[in-house]
This record gives sequence, structure tokens and C-alpha cells, in this order.
Amino acid sequence: MIASNKPEKFTVRIKRQDGKDQPSYWQSFEVPYTANQNIITVLQQVAANPVTTDGKRVTPVAWDCGCLEEVCGACTMVINGKVRQSCSCLVDELFTGATNQTISIEPMSKFPVVRDLFVDRQRMFDNLKKIQGWVPIDSTADLGPGPRETQDEQHDRYAISRCMTCGCCLEACPQFTKDNDFVGAQVIAQALYFNEHPTGAQLKGERLDVLMGPGGVTDCGNAQNCVKVCPKDIPLTEAIAKVGRQATVHVVKQFFTGKK
Ligand code: SF4
Ligand code: SF4
Ligand code: FES
Repeated sequence: MIASNKPEKFTVRIKRQDGKDQPSYWQSFEVPYTANQNIITVLQQVAANPVTTDGKRVTPVAWDCGCLEEVCGACTMVINGKVRQSCSCLVDELFTGATNQTISIEPMSKFPVVRDLFVDRQRMFDNLKKIQGWVPIDSTADLGPGPRETQDEQHDRYAISRCMTCGCCLEACPQFTKDNDFVGAQVIAQALYFNEHPTGAQLKGERLDVLMGPGGVTDCGNAQNCVKVCPKDIPLTEAIAKVGRQATVHVVKQFFTGKK
């Protein structure tokens, strides 16, 4: 929808940081309005003319992006206080019904800043390694058709497969902080995704062992912020509850079988 109150130009405030562990600071830029521009376009306009509203020429703002179609998660940032992808965030949408036509853009706060709006999301990928977020195969030879799944099972697992490791759920989670070990909703949901796959289930016990340890599923405070901000509508709190139940069953089985 085109904003009815579209301006000729607008101000964008950007929280900047020259490098890891450097102090952050804000700079404002004036950008010409064009219909259908997204936040990546705004950042490109700033990069083409990196002059602040008080006339100072500065270094161009750094940011990350990849797919430009809300699939890779790389362009995630906090825009007007809301964590989201900058490629799918339209200026028209931000201006619709808004009285203030200044846009503020910040990097996510739960990940180390590499520079400006570019953050390092490596912790999410490391956590996927911890839970062995994959389907194990023992060769590249043709092993024949895989196990069959019902349409209902495919439907449930497809919902979780849409995760793009963007970090929105972690940015919104009060339990996930820069200096703790909580793995967060994203990895717990991915553990469920692989645990429910007939072949992926071979590693289910090992995944649950990790998720029952420090930083695992019991660290979730059930605040439900994660599910509200997930751009892919992944049923995160449902996934956390299911993994919690799988963990309980796993512990009971271990108790009765004596197997670790
Ligand atoms: S339910 Fe709350 S505490 Fe648990 S992962 Fe989601 S946001 Fe974090
Ligand atoms: S679960 Fe949703 S919010 Fe979290 S990383 Fe995946 S896509 Fe992003
Ligand atoms: S550039 Fe890939 S999600 Fe935005």
C-alpha cells in the first residue's frame, strides 16, 4: 500500500559502530522518498551519498544481506524498534498511519556487531552443530528410497523447515543474552525438526542430552516473545513444549534401561 502521507524526503537515523567492541553512536541521513522502496534501498541511497543531515561526509554504513527475498535472514535488523528483515520492510508500510516520518535502524543487540548494522550470527550456527542439526547418512552411495512420511508429518515438519536462522526469535527472547549459554527457540525447534525425521531420529537421544544440559530447554522462561516475532510463523512455543516432553520421556527411558 502506498502511504497517503508520503514525503519528498525523510530522515533515517542509523546506530553505527566502527568495529567489534567499539562504542556505538547515531547518525542521521536525509533520503529521497520513492514509492515501494525497502530498507535495503534506503541503505543503498545512504551508501551512495554518505553525508549526514549536518553536512558531514562519513564512511558508508555497512550491513549484510543476501537473498533480498526474506529467505537468508542475513539482513535482519531492528527497524523502528521491531526486529525484522530489511529486505521485506517497506518504507510505505512504516509511514502508513505514522505521525513521525523518521526511521530508526539499529543492529540486533543479542549478537556481536561486526560493523554498523552487520552482526555476527555465528552462535546460531554453532548451536545447530551442538544439537547435530542434520540427517546423518553413512555414505554418498544410493541407499534407495528413504522412509515414508505421512502428509500430516510433512505438514508439521515443513512449518519448522522454513527457519532462515535470522535471529529474530533470539533478539526478542528475554532469556537469550550475549553472555549466557541459552540456545534459544530456533535451535530447540530445529532439534524437533530432525528428531521427527525417521532418519534424523537416529541422533534424537544425543540431541536431547544436549538440550537437557546447561543452556537447554529448561532455560526457556515461556515468555512467548519468540513466536510473536518469527517472520516465518514457526510454532516455536509448541516446538519447545514438544521437545520438553521428548526430554522427559528420554530421561525416564534412561532411568529404566540404565542406558546413557
Ligand atoms: S518462550 Fe520465551 S523464553 Fe522461551 S525461547 Fe521463546 S521468548 Fe525465549
Ligand atoms: S525460528 Fe523464526 S525467528 Fe527464529 S531464527 Fe528461525 S525464522 Fe528466524
Ligand atoms: S536479504 Fe535475505 S532475508 Fe533479507
